[in-house]
Amino acid sequence: MKRMIVAGNWKMNMTPSSAKAFSEELSEKLKQHSHNCDIVICPPYISIPAVAETFSGSRVSVGAQNCHTKEKGAFTGEISATMLKDAGCTYCIVGHSERRRDFAENDTEVAEKIKAILQCDMTPILCVGENIEQRKDGSTFDVVRSQLENTLFELKEIDYSHLVIAYEPIWAIGTGLAATPEQAQEVHGFIDEVLSRFELNAPILYGGSVTDQNAQELFSQPNIHGALVGGASLSVQSFVGIINATNVIK
Ligand code: PGA
Repeated sequence: MKRMIVAGNWKMNMTPSSAKAFSEELSEKLKQHSHNCDIVICPPYISIPAVAETFSGSRVSVGAQNCHTKEKGAFTGEISATMLKDAGCTYCIVGHSERRRDFAENDTEVAEKIKAILQCDMTPILCVGENIEQRKDGSTFDVVRSQLENTLFELKEIDYSHLVIAYEPIWAIGTGLAATPEQAQEVHGFIDEVLSRFELNAPILYGGSVTDQNAQELFSQPNIHGALVGGASLSVQSFVGIINATNVIK
């Protein structure tokens, strides 16, 4: 059976009190069914303690959406991996396209963040993916390969065997236009090949307009090991629907 992961990326949504109410409702709903996947919730930093407390001792893990490269110091407004670990996180998203676009994160910085996360025994979820122009001009594979290689070459000194990859085509994020299962599988298969050159056998999540309607078809592709879910992770019903879609996976 494939190991499946369903991770919710809340982005800049929900206040701490709404995060708490959401987590309590989700926790109750998850008791009604058994599920066949690891579940990760990535709230904004300020809601991490409330979510971690609700899911403490359960199979639901908490992750952050970003972290700083350094452990501590004069970096006003930043949060370190050490702090996230202490607050209850076991995962951290890195290199999301919104951070690459809006905060000019490059592959070198992404690699530094991954090192910081791994040093704290947390699991990085490394995001890669092409924009619409790159897809149209046929450079999807080149873009994804270079994002992966640039990052992984910088990690060669350390053990990164716990890495999780998320393929998130930028044109599919928040647009309602998810990649088709075939489009996603094609890139996931390619990512798997690139990873095998680094002797890495990592779960590869798909992200970009995943819903409870399209999740099952995506999950039945051989190289898709779950989802990184944005918008649909903000509704208990749709997030649980996506989690339940893993139950048919062999
Ligand atoms: P979406 O976002 O599910 O709202 O498209 C996915 C993501 O950005 O991780």
